[in-house]
Amino acid sequence: MKKIAPDWLKKAVFYEIYPSSFFDSNGDGIGDLPGIIAKLDYLVDLGVNAVWLNPCFASTFADGGYDISDFRQVAPRYGTNDDLLKLFAEAKKRDIRICLDMVAGHTSTEHAWFKASARPEKNEYSNYYIWNNSWLESTGGLQMISGMAERDGSFMVNYFSVQPALNYGFANPDPAFPWQLPVDHPDVLKVREELKNNMRFWLDLGASGFRCDLAPSLIKKDPGKVATMALWREIREMFDAEYPEAVLIAEWAYAPQALKAGFHCDFLLHCGTPGYTTLFRNEPERDLWRGIDKSAFYEKDGNDYTVKNFHSYFDAAGLGDAEFFFKTYLDHYERTREDGFISIPTGDHDMTRISDFRSEQDLACVFAFILTMPGVPFIYYGDEIGMKNIPGLVSKEGGYTRTQARTPMQWDGSENKGFSTAPAEKLYLPVDKRPGAPDLAEQQGRPDSLWHKVQELLKIRQTLPALQADGGLKLLLADYPLVYLRSKGEETFVIVIQPAAREWRCEVELPFAAAELSPVLAGNINAGIADGKMCFSGGGTQYGIWQIKR
Ligand code: GLC
Ligand code: CA
Repeated sequence: MKKIAPDWLKKAVFYEIYPSSFFDSNGDGIGDLPGIIAKLDYLVDLGVNAVWLNPCFASTFADGGYDISDFRQVAPRYGTNDDLLKLFAEAKKRDIRICLDMVAGHTSTEHAWFKASARPEKNEYSNYYIWNNSWLESTGGLQMISGMAERDGSFMVNYFSVQPALNYGFANPDPAFPWQLPVDHPDVLKVREELKNNMRFWLDLGASGFRCDLAPSLIKKDPGKVATMALWREIREMFDAEYPEAVLIAEWAYAPQALKAGFHCDFLLHCGTPGYTTLFRNEPERDLWRGIDKSAFYEKDGNDYTVKNFHSYFDAAGLGDAEFFFKTYLDHYERTREDGFISIPTGDHDMTRISDFRSEQDLACVFAFILTMPGVPFIYYGDEIGMKNIPGLVSKEGGYTRTQARTPMQWDGSENKGFSTAPAEKLYLPVDKRPGAPDLAEQQGRPDSLWHKVQELLKIRQTLPALQADGGLKLLLADYPLVYLRSKGEETFVIVIQPAAREWRCEVELPFAAAELSPVLAGNINAGIADGKMCFSGGGTQYGIWQIKR
């Protein structure tokens, strides 16, 4: 039987670092790799054991580093390749795995492959990208750019106009457009080998895996993603044969495809942003915390935005619908349990931060959920202290509205919040100086802070295998509160989360005749057993974990 994942992944909790904004070690205003190395002990203290690093490679930075000009070279502003190797080594000493970001689908127009491909004379890179045959030819319905090269043709892009799509071929090439090459054309198979070799390059040097950017997009005109899934399965075979301890993490946002395609994890990206492809295929009303009921809208008032008609489940108002979420989640979970893990992130560099409209206690409930669910959780830097969006910033390096969630980590209360010694106007992005902006030092000094609660939850997850990636899940109640079981072997735990700020009481069936509920973390919730049922009650915005003992 195939092994679902390397053992370390089952215990992994990831921390996503956007390198420009984490910690600046040399005072130039931009975060860097030595800065991350300097903060590794912080990650140990917090209790995470894996890092996803956004792209740190040579780039034109028109899309925050997702426009790569050399896959094998660290961007000078972040340091050198040696710094990255040092990060691998220092992280390893602390039992932390470092996963990189593999932008498989496109490069920067400054990449040497693209420059060669854009040449008018035919050469070995001509077919590395998707070009039609004449600058005047119709585009075949694809997003094509013309007028930027001497080559007589237009090239396809995946995202911004400086991100030409690498050519992995077309599952169903249109005979009217002979430049649409089939997936087994020798030229496009060469691109596939390049992808594998770029992965081998960093895996050989100590990376523990990759988050794979826009993973479902590689093969064009591929309805049902059949050909794209076969491509990734081939890469998984390479991992199993050559790098069995390394992991593949998809930005696919549809586990039933991604995990069957060989990924070890796939993100549940239910970010609720209208127009964004989510786990729920643009059904943001199923979102638990960002999203928004169908009637929600943003209202702009000067530089501030307010969301109106916002009813996500984790709001203190208690007007959301967890059942709706679980219907889809459990369907995906049941269909993929034997294949891999669903990753629930607190946020990422593309979404608004989770903290909008929430108190620390509201956020603690969100963390209690994410850190007790199956799969592999991801914490976006700064979410552990409830860092806030800074709306209204001018777009930085292609961030647009995403810029608001990419501001520097708030380490302490000093000038620049401890991020950098550069003058404030030189910082990559401004730090949050608004009253009430959280900082780590303050929260570490306050025992009831969000940071301490996150740390406590992480410790509990690390010590209880039932709560980890492959522990069983059984939903008992998807209402206010939310009640579910996690189990492994003989051990069963019940988790109760009440995000609504109101008094409550509930009764749920016991999974087996039990003698007692033994608290792991009881908070202010009363728990007991009566008439063969578990009874819980308490005030609002609470969570707790109990072991059910026979
Ligand atoms: C992914 C990245 C995003 C980037 C895009 C294009 O969605 O997360 O930041 O802009 O791909 O590479
Ligand atoms: Ca720096």
